[in-house]
Amino acid sequence: MSKKPLILGIESSCDETAASIITENEQGIPIVLSNVVSSQVDVHKEFGGVVPELAARSHMEKIDWIVKKAIDDSGKKIEEINAVASTAGPGLIVCLSVGLSFGKAFASALEKPFIAVNHLEGHALSPKLNSELNYPYLLLLISGGHSQYLNVQGLGKYQRLGTTIDDALGEAFDKTAKLLGIEFPGGPQIEILAEKGNPNKYDLPKPIFNKGGCNLSFAGLKTAILRITKDIKTDQEKFDLAASFQKTVEQILYKKTKIAFSEFEKQNDLKEKVFVVAGGVAANKRIRSMLINLCNEENYQSLFPPIEFCGDNAAMIAMVGLEKFKLKQFDNLDHPAKPRWSLDEKAVFLKGAGVQF
Ligand code: KG4
Ligand code: ZN
Repeated sequence: MSKKPLILGIESSCDETAASIITENEQGIPIVLSNVVSSQVDVHKEFGGVVPELAARSHMEKIDWIVKKAIDDSGKKIEEINAVASTAGPGLIVCLSVGLSFGKAFASALEKPFIAVNHLEGHALSPKLNSELNYPYLLLLISGGHSQYLNVQGLGKYQRLGTTIDDALGEAFDKTAKLLGIEFPGGPQIEILAEKGNPNKYDLPKPIFNKGGCNLSFAGLKTAILRITKDIKTDQEKFDLAASFQKTVEQILYKKTKIAFSEFEKQNDLKEKVFVVAGGVAANKRIRSMLINLCNEENYQSLFPPIEFCGDNAAMIAMVGLEKFKLKQFDNLDHPAKPRWSLDEKAVFLKGAGVQF
């Protein structure tokens, strides 16, 4: 039996401090030996959003014991670790610096390779933690900071087909929740409130629905919701607005995903059509079932990471580390933290005004 690599992954790009140890079996299927995630929800709750300084301080306070717990939980010894992989971007620079510096120091002390990981690549590869997944595949990445359709051709090979031109989808969920008076982070709560509401009560806008290919836009939705919430008086009206918001998001994703399918098919000579959905919003059950239905209609195989790997975690960072380790793609200890780090380096930065379609 060949000795399989043991990878330590570290994540601190935003408000989750996380560490994980993974390896793989004889067939090359990853095995998650430990997965420790500590959320800072309580730290940021009263501010209605992530406060970078507080987030960085919390990462610093926790990182030692989280990494220690990940190693202890794995049942392995520290000296058995073959490489250390840390998120290097994108994210809040003060937060990234904590996990990145810790990972570099750890790798250096162990005299083992260091691997700098793009957090988005972690999300992109997260379904590999429990499913076999071959390239190419179409990825919809929907998180608190990003909403993109990507043609994934291999490790490090991404072609962006569409992106949000303003807010990310998770951000739209969180902002809607805030307007409805729900504590941060409200995204998951919207899903719960929506179950009690009438999705046809409010007619909300669908920005760039009929133009812009598979690019997305959610800022107009927030503005419409702000206007409506001023007149909301009852809980039932709140539920109706949450349900109407959720339905509008489903309609937008249904249409844009269909466009992304045809773009993806134009770019690839496909033997099998695979659609992967990852990122925090991929935990939303209604969005999941709508996209699964669409895949059935369009003969796509749909793949979602398990809920525990949808949000930020270090197993997905270790997963990228494992793939890079096997290809001997190591990084130097002077690798910088990159607050902005696109998976498709050639893609133009669309955010902001003046985008022409
Ligand atoms: O991937 P993630 O954990 O962090 C980032 O990299 O951004 O995504 C967090 C986002 C938040 O905006 C959160 O509100 C949203 O994912 N989210 C959800 C659900 N669970 C998490 N949005 C809608 N429905 C959910 N069930
Ligand atoms: Zn994330």
